[in-house]
Amino acid sequence: MPTEHPLAGQSALITGASRGIGFAIARRLGQMGARVSLCGRDKKALEDAATRLRNESIDAFAFPADVSRADQVASLVDATLKKFDAIDILINNAGVGRFGPIHQLTETDWDAVLDTNLKGVFLVSRAVIPGMLARSRGHIINISSLAGKNAMPGGGAYCASKWGLLGLTYCMAEDLRAHGIRVASICPGSVATDFSHSSTKDAKKMLQPDDVAHAVAMLLTQAPQSFISEVLLRPTQKP
Ligand SMILES: NC(=O)c1ccc[n+]([C@@H]2O[C@H](COP(=O)([O-])OP(=O)(O)OC[C@H]3O[C@@H](n4cnc5c(N)ncnc54)[C@H](OP(=O)(O)O)[C@@H]3O)[C@@H](O)[C@H]2O)c1
Repeated sequence: MPTEHPLAGQSALITGASRGIGFAIARRLGQMGARVSLCGRDKKALEDAATRLRNESIDAFAFPADVSRADQVASLVDATLKKFDAIDILINNAGVGRFGPIHQLTETDWDAVLDTNLKGVFLVSRAVIPGMLARSRGHIINISSLAGKNAMPGGGAYCASKWGLLGLTYCMAEDLRAHGIRVASICPGSVATDFSHSSTKDAKKMLQPDDVAHAVAMLLTQAPQSFISEVLLRPTQKP
């Protein structure tokens, strides 16, 4: 029998949760009964997001951190563990895009994208996994993209980061599945958020942040013996 709060008693850390997809995931997990720890770089935006969730009776904790900085990641994970004792669920969602033909991208563009979208997942996962191993259970969900599967003009840095993230996810899954920790990726197509606001696509046909949250909820409510390792999420109509 499905329960109303299937994640009651569990804690989740969601990176990039001040807006967009990360916020929708945090809200969904909170509605499912989880305590949620939110991270992002902008302290005020993050506090506002946590306040919105608390106003909906969700137990939300906000800790500003840049996922590309190992020292800040260590502080984030320590603070979350002090607050919630354990991290049962990690959603690696924080991500940025810089687009343009590769010969026009700056080194700063390249580093911003790779350091956030790929190195950030390594740093946060590395800090969280020991606690999951100690309890022999956990879920890690990495938000990649269909841009991690398909080439697009101007997507050199972004596609490389999301393609690389899929490789990292597949290997983490093999490292950890025998320990009861399931590592999966979700690859959404275009989602209507600030990230894609300059897109020429029809926002009404695009995926919504809640659609990604729904896929996360599906992965987290599998039976223990079942392991959906990858979700490709497309809009019904091409935007
Ligand atoms: N929107 C799409 O079309 C789409 C499609 C497929 C996949 N995705 C992926 O989905 C994820 C979320 O995208 P979104 O559309 O929700 O983007 P968004 O609306 O721009 O939100 C990005 C979130 O990540 C945070 N963030 C960015 N850099 C960070 C860093 N270095 N450390 C910590 N937090 C950081 C941002 O907060 P601060 O700026 O305050 O740090 C914000 O909370 C990304 O990984 C993106 O690549 C998006």
